[in-house]
Amino acid sequence: MKLSRLAVIGTTVGTAAVLGISTAAMATSGAPAAPKHPAAASATTVAPDSLRALAAKIGLRIGTAAGPSRLTTPQLAAITAGQFSVLTPENEMKWQVVEPTQGQFDWTGADNLVKFAKANGQLVRGHTLMWHSQLPDWLTTGVANGTISDAQLKSLLHQHITTEVSRYKGKIWQWDVANEVFANSWDTAQPDGLNANDFWIQHLGSGILADAFRWAHAADPHALLCYNDFNIAGEDGTNAKYQNVHDFVAKLKAQGVPIDCVGEQGHLDTQYGFSGTRMQQDLQGYASLGLKVAITEADVRTFVNNATDQVPTSNPETLAQPYEFGQMLKACLAVKNCISFTIWGFDDAESWVPGVFAGEGYSDIYDVNLNKKDAYFELQQDLRLAAFGAPDRRRTF
Ligand code: XIL
Repeated sequence: MKLSRLAVIGTTVGTAAVLGISTAAMATSGAPAAPKHPAAASATTVAPDSLRALAAKIGLRIGTAAGPSRLTTPQLAAITAGQFSVLTPENEMKWQVVEPTQGQFDWTGADNLVKFAKANGQLVRGHTLMWHSQLPDWLTTGVANGTISDAQLKSLLHQHITTEVSRYKGKIWQWDVANEVFANSWDTAQPDGLNANDFWIQHLGSGILADAFRWAHAADPHALLCYNDFNIAGEDGTNAKYQNVHDFVAKLKAQGVPIDCVGEQGHLDTQYGFSGTRMQQDLQGYASLGLKVAITEADVRTFVNNATDQVPTSNPETLAQPYEFGQMLKACLAVKNCISFTIWGFDDAESWVPGVFAGEGYSDIYDVNLNKKDAYFELQQDLRLAAFGAPDRRRTF
């Protein structure tokens, strides 16, 4: 049965006291130096066998997506702070959330996450500035009824990126500047591989990508600026989407556009094909362009009995699930430029999967009762082995 976790504490940053943990171990155990945005000094100890402490030994940041409940519900906040060294706001920095009414901003959720991260010695992945989804109604309605012209849309996007990136200047390690603008096999692709029906591409054309990265860079020259998408490293049999993204970002780099990284979301489903070897090769392909890479939203879903208990309906899937998590982490570990591995949440009960993919779940590394699953132990073991065997992966970004 799903554990009831409705008690919410009143503060978002009393975590160190609540948890009795801290992050000093990060400072002394080879945590990656992040001189541009140093993690806050902190007073205590993260468990040495936690994912974050093990990852720190090899210069990798391990992350989770956190909505308000993962920052405020005590049992969840303990895991958010104790296991992870980088946080992504699951929804709290999306345009719909930060500017629900034109000109009226609500930064509460985003501010809380940034504060929580600082208090717990964590970095932040900003997510996401230009995406077709979770746009405010005033914007999409205005575009649809013609009261917002394409020229005005461009200037609104410029303003949005400038406002948000400036607000958190110096506090964001990586920004997902653009999200999901390339065509999948089921979309209509332009010759350059961008999705012809993407909201932004449709209205502003392919050139908007370069603009978005330049605007973000102008607002925070030290943040790492990423392109983020799914099916772009090992999931797609033809690898066509990978090739399109690769070639496009290569062009951006050649033109001097300030792009620093590619984020592969890593939303896997055990019913589809996936090759860890291919993922590694593709990550290396981006890295060879001089970019950093990151796994940004890893989860592995499968069919389950119901959304509450989330027991896989097929036994082999309980093996496939942790295996694919491990394959993704191994791919990242094998690529020197892979700087972070982020899981999209951590527990099945809070996952976005049951609400979006009918009949599916079991996608995270803790079960609905917050017990660690095999996927957790798989990642832990991979990190331990990497700490003992992998070449030195410490970097100086
Ligand atoms: C999802 C969140 O997890 C949900 O809570 C929300 O309702 C919809 O968005 N790709 C992305 C993420 O880049 O922002 C999405 O997050 C999941 C897919």
